[in-house]
Amino acid sequence: EEVSVVVVGSCMTDLVSQAPRLPKAGETIHGQKFFIGFGGKGANQCVQAARLGAKTAMVGKVGKDFFGNNYIQNFKDNGVYTAFVEQTSEAATGAASIIVNDAGENAIVIVAGANLLLGDEELQRAQATLETAKVLVCQLEISPHASLQALWMAQKSNVKTIFNPAPAIPDLHADFYKASDIFCCNESEAELLTGCPVATVEDAGRVGLELLNRGCVSVIVTLGPQGCVVLQSTDPTPKHIPTTKVTSVDTTGAGDSFIGALAFYISHYPTMPLEEMARRANLIAAVSVQTTGTQTSYPFKKDLPAELF
Ligand code: RIB
Ligand code: NA
Repeated sequence: EEVSVVVVGSCMTDLVSQAPRLPKAGETIHGQKFFIGFGGKGANQCVQAARLGAKTAMVGKVGKDFFGNNYIQNFKDNGVYTAFVEQTSEAATGAASIIVNDAGENAIVIVAGANLLLGDEELQRAQATLETAKVLVCQLEISPHASLQALWMAQKSNVKTIFNPAPAIPDLHADFYKASDIFCCNESEAELLTGCPVATVEDAGRVGLELLNRGCVSVIVTLGPQGCVVLQSTDPTPKHIPTTKVTSVDTTGAGDSFIGALAFYISHYPTMPLEEMARRANLIAAVSVQTTGTQTSYPFKKDLPAELF
């Protein structure tokens, strides 16, 4: 069976502390729990797509260290093809220090390490697999140059591209928009990219249109409990896709669950309307916020209602 979803992106070891609130500068506070998990936006998205049933391959870089070894085993445990996950002795496996407060909100510092050494050579080794896939997914936790190269490579071969500009940079190169079939970001990323505040569904529609006009085929702005807004160049009217109300315990990586689900739907149901894919991806991400951790909270196909497939 051929690989249908390729992710070119990051692997991070998540070092998570649960605390009543996020500390202020210079402050020390007591937390109630600490755990280590598998994270990184690229890997998260890849693992969610795999758990829904997509044949996935990860293109990434980890260190030749304990965390790196463990990470490759994690991919294998999730059925992700790992031939393009390379280990380097030049840098350590990426790490994310995460604090989650009692409201399920988080603050994250990433040290990308080995992720930043992923470049043209690694992309070339994965080229044949990338060009025969259905979907490519990229983010911004590796070098932006490598992400853009991968998106271009995919686009040339008519592979659908999903670009998640996270973490967002204010001066994102204009070519990223043109290389994106689906440009998918959350409200704070949309705000940073456009300079316009995003609080409401209407705001999301407005900034979505601005992003769409920069050259993407479709834009999705995710809004947490408010679901998301979808805009397409063929019909630029913003469509609000609401989601179910749930009690969130830990929203870390919910956006990655959404994008992984989206990649799965595009690869498996290419003719499904984008709004319907977004509606289903909303529901999958809503499952993920109800338990702790990133990948540990991502549902498998067998745990989800049959209507989602
Ligand atoms: O999107 C969530 C992810 O962001 C975490 O897993 C962490 O590794 C950071 O990269
Ligand atoms: Na979660």
